[in-house]
Amino acid sequence: MGILEVKGVNKRFGGLQALSNVNLSVQENTVHAIIGPNGAGKSTLLNCLVGKLIPDTGSVMFDGQSVLGRKPHEINQMGISRVFQTPEIFGDLTVLENVLIPCFARRDGAFRLHAFETVSAEKEMMDKAMQMLEDVNMVSKRHMHSASMSRGDKRRLEMAMCLVQEPRLLLLDEPTAGMARADTNNTIDLLKEIKEKRDITMAIIEHDMHVVFSLADRITVLAQGTPLVEDTPENIKGHPKVREAYLGEAA
Ligand SMILES: Nc1ncnc2c1ncn2[C@@H]1O[C@H](COP(=O)(O)OP(=O)(O)OP(=O)(O)O)[C@@H](O)[C@H]1O
Ligand SMILES: [Mg+2]
Repeated sequence: MGILEVKGVNKRFGGLQALSNVNLSVQENTVHAIIGPNGAGKSTLLNCLVGKLIPDTGSVMFDGQSVLGRKPHEINQMGISRVFQTPEIFGDLTVLENVLIPCFARRDGAFRLHAFETVSAEKEMMDKAMQMLEDVNMVSKRHMHSASMSRGDKRRLEMAMCLVQEPRLLLLDEPTAGMARADTNNTIDLLKEIKEKRDITMAIIEHDMHVVFSLADRITVLAQGTPLVEDTPENIKGHPKVREAYLGEAA
């Protein structure tokens, strides 16, 4: 039994069957990659995992609880955080302020910021935010306005904003899309370090196979809304189903 269990998920958009009987089991403390060509249904699947989309049929369970129909803050409270394909950061705020927001934002229905309640709580949150910035190697940039940063830095900041919530499951939607090779390699190292430091499960959607093979313990290949194969990176390399997925024909 995995920490994340997807069973019999179907999702239709009008005449298009975007997901077709998807089953997926992600084991605790592993990195599970979902790969497949454009339009395979990867982002649709991720949206079903965070309650953003409700499947027509099927179930999505995280640690024994259904995620379906839950609001974003409830998903966060369950221990799931998501790094979006386009970084969702507050451009007008500094790097440190961005990381502090999830530290002291308590979301109960409406988004609302609570003032620091005590001096010790304030110090604790500041320490946590600074530690997080250290982990993503951004302490020296803490006073920079985030809008002016490179794409790679924005992505690292977004990861810090997710990780500071200490998620048990981190979902990453193409975390290195559009990055230069050096930034991509930094991101791989960062994710490896995070994995070593804490108990965390990751599900990653990625087109860059260098990233996938550097990080993944298991890989699911999705094509036309259907999982074709799930296996280890070693077995996926050169697998005929991968060619089939990308070339649209049996190899
Ligand atoms: N809200 C929507 N309404 C209608 N069709 C949609 C919607 N969202 C996705 N689709 C369609 O569903 C299919 C799967 O889309 P999805 O975005 O999940 O693919 P993907 O695997 O993430 O592709 P990419 O690698 O390009 O990001 C595509 O044909 C897409 O056009
Ligand atoms: Mg996508």
